[in-house]
Amino acid sequence: MASSFGAAQVLVASNRGPVSYAVADDGSLRSKRGGGGLVSGLSAIGSGSDSLWVCSALSDGDREAVRRGVAVDGVRMLDIPADVHADAYNGVANSVLWFVHHMLYQTPLEPVFDGSFRSQWASYETYNRAFAEALAEEAAEGAAVLVQDYHLTLVPGMLRELRPDLRIGHFSHTPWAPPEYFAMLPDDIARQVLRGMLGADRLGFLTRRWADAFTACCERFAGGLGDTRIGVHGLGADADFLRARSHEADVDERMAGLREEIGEGRRTIVRVDRTELSKNIVRGLLAYRQLLDDRPEWRERVVHVAFAYPSRQDLAVYRDYTAEVQRVAEEINERYGTPGWRPVVLHVKDDFARSLAAYRLADVALVNPIRDGMNLVAKEVPVVSDGGCALVLSQEAGAHEELGEDAITVNPYDVVQTAEALHEALSMRPEDRTERSKRLAAAATALPPARWFLDQLEALRG
Ligand code: G6P
Repeated sequence: MASSFGAAQVLVASNRGPVSYAVADDGSLRSKRGGGGLVSGLSAIGSGSDSLWVCSALSDGDREAVRRGVAVDGVRMLDIPADVHADAYNGVANSVLWFVHHMLYQTPLEPVFDGSFRSQWASYETYNRAFAEALAEEAAEGAAVLVQDYHLTLVPGMLRELRPDLRIGHFSHTPWAPPEYFAMLPDDIARQVLRGMLGADRLGFLTRRWADAFTACCERFAGGLGDTRIGVHGLGADADFLRARSHEADVDERMAGLREEIGEGRRTIVRVDRTELSKNIVRGLLAYRQLLDDRPEWRERVVHVAFAYPSRQDLAVYRDYTAEVQRVAEEINERYGTPGWRPVVLHVKDDFARSLAAYRLADVALVNPIRDGMNLVAKEVPVVSDGGCALVLSQEAGAHEELGEDAITVNPYDVVQTAEALHEALSMRPEDRTERSKRLAAAATALPPARWFLDQLEALRG
């Protein structure tokens, strides 16, 4: 059998990979490298034939690249049939597993696990199997495989059967639901998810809270953890990268534009999110409106800069949420705006340089998710902000475990409390704010992405 082993010693598997392709007007393929913790983590171990990233082909350009045999070194894209991928990604992963772990279901949106869900589940299995087979083919004997997230919960178990020699890890970037909520899944599917993950030697979570919830689910539905070990790795911000990137020319240019939109001498409350129900953007806007009502002294003296970037637009519930964010922002501007003051500056087109510009200008960062695995924005703004910022932070963000002491904590559902927290943040004495912001930045960068990745790898091999 040894001859059928591949060459990669370290493999990462995730739905979204580090690169994407677009077909240019002249028919050529352009590749774009993405950012994020995993990308810098994997580059820390060096590239070449020793490491491989297995991911889905997501765009038309990606699929074309697979067809033409074009590839960036160290990346293998799987061209999973579009309908199978849509069922697995939109149907199961983003409409069910994401909603369960973030506890987002609300009447009348609770799931209906009917025959059509069962057929989506079959696609989810097929999609997971495609990853397991590709990994089994590419991994060298005894290699380490790090599987990522809720899209690929079945991969560890499937891969274990194909290749018992491998060291298999799985990392969850989301919260994990407590057993009472996880119980919403059909019994057999709950067990399949847990047993699939327990096929790993080691499972990683962003906080102790999510790890404990997973353990509790295993006790209730899968007869315990068995031999699988659990680790907590709180991914931090990449200070070196952020500090350098946020001083490049395009960021300066965006700052000038934003300053004009904000107006002279005004305070800035900044938020940057994917437009995602768990991020709680609408209640953030309502809290800002409440602030303008309860504390009229802030009118004309503050601007809420809100960037809500499109996400998972195939799903109606996301599209509706985007529309709702836009509607509420407009309503606030109409009701409170004056000729020289636009209370909310909302942008919905993704622009990383502009996000960094907003971070630099932030007096206050508003991070109020209903539930969040970690939330890196809460960690990034204090690192980048020019004058130090105050952080209004939801008690339900994973980042709260590390940043809670120097943040102003809010219950994400409590709009009145959030408004008061914004007032407190805006009123903070400058020395106090600078001190707190420094401590926040130190805590936020305690485990930079490269270290985060290497720690997991060492623990898996050890
Ligand atoms: C979360 C998930 C990631 C995912 C990201 C963006 O952070 O944990 O796995 O890649 O959202 O979502 P998308 O559906 O666009 O990949």
